Amino acid sequence: MRLVVTGGAGFIGANFVHTVIRDRPDAQVTVLDSMTYAANRASLDGLPGDRMELVEADCADAAVTDRLVAELTGPDDAVVHFAAESHNDNSLATPWPFVHSNIVGTYTVLEACRRHGARLHHVSTDEVYGDLELDDPAKFTPETAYSPSSPYSATKAGADMLVRAWVRSFGVRATLSNCSNNYGPRQHVEKFIPRQITNILDGRRPRLYGSGDNVRDWIHVDDHNAAVLRVLDAGRDGRTYLIGADGERSNLEVMRMICDLMGVVGTGDDPGFDHVTDRPGHDLRYAIDARGTRDELGWDPRYTDFRAGLEQTIAWYRENRSWWEPVKERVEQRYAQTEKVLEEGA
Ligand code: NAD
Ligand code: DAU
Repeated sequence: MRLVVTGGAGFIGANFVHTVIRDRPDAQVTVLDSMTYAANRASLDGLPGDRMELVEADCADAAVTDRLVAELTGPDDAVVHFAAESHNDNSLATPWPFVHSNIVGTYTVLEACRRHGARLHHVSTDEVYGDLELDDPAKFTPETAYSPSSPYSATKAGADMLVRAWVRSFGVRATLSNCSNNYGPRQHVEKFIPRQITNILDGRRPRLYGSGDNVRDWIHVDDHNAAVLRVLDAGRDGRTYLIGADGERSNLEVMRMICDLMGVVGTGDDPGFDHVTDRPGHDLRYAIDARGTRDELGWDPRYTDFRAGLEQTIAWYRENRSWWEPVKERVEQRYAQTEKVLEEGA
């Protein structure tokens, strides 16, 4: 089995590569990653050099992508397409890289797959469906209409549409998956959970957007990747698989749990963290109905205890300071600028 894993030096992609190398002794992996600020070479440390190769290039570079996809000639070979600009806050400040990587990048990957008859699995997000009311009994299903809110989710929605069109019009052999919020080791410190953990480890105050009522549907990254592997093994071309672990929690609840697990105690009116100006256009709630994927593929999440998963994640950041410390200050400086602009505009 030969896999080209785009975005394999990012959070989910790197964890995927570790899983594949561990669980599939026959697998050869080529990581195609342009090594943006979100990538970390150290995330690929410890992988055997004779089974994993890193090609540092843009997946929108047709010549490189074409050359790598041309090597996928076996029946189980595939491109697993994780590469994307992935952070909503950044997409509000500078949308263009999102259009480039998420749309032009996906187009380029699709064209290479079309030329060489290669199989593709496209990794997408629940955010393409927009958001739900807090009390809406319905969750997202593959039939939910697309209604993205941010430049990030709009470009992911555009990418999904390209994949569907290439399946229908050109017969490209592709599957799609839309997953909810991932957490776990190796996630960039710009994201909610690692930001709060590393703030506390660094002696900074955790930051909660707005009231903290917004709900995210958390899934451990290893559960997401196990589902992606099941799609590679048994998914049907043209199908969309929703991946989620019934992990809905408000941001306030998650913040309190992190503080509790890390010994941050509030005093009087001070909860131990700061409420800051809300994200513009902030989606209220995401929730995935993954029953179709579970029934069809026989996949089930294994990290069903969120508190235990969070504890394990905190331990990882505690034990791997050299992985995140070099970028922490820059990320917080950028957030400080954003907070200032948002406060002035409020
Ligand atoms: P990430 O930002 O941690 O990693 C993205 C990786 O893609 C980085 O290594 C980056 O260098 C690389 N990349 C970006 N543009 C590229 C380009 N043009 N060419 C080659 N490489 C490029 O993101 P993540 O959280 O690991 O997300 C991976 C994928 O999963 C994305 O497609 C994202 O939309 C999707 N997803 C993420 C979540 C989540 O909770 N993080 C949930 C559902 C789906
Ligand atoms: O739902 C899947 C999506 O989840 C993925 O497609 C995205 O790539 C991924 O980044 C994630 O998007 P979110 O915007 O939900 O994730 P983020 O970690 O940025 O924020 C999670 C929630 O926490 C969100 O409601 C905003 C809030 N937040 C975020 C940060 C960084 C805070 O309250 N404080 C913060 O400091």
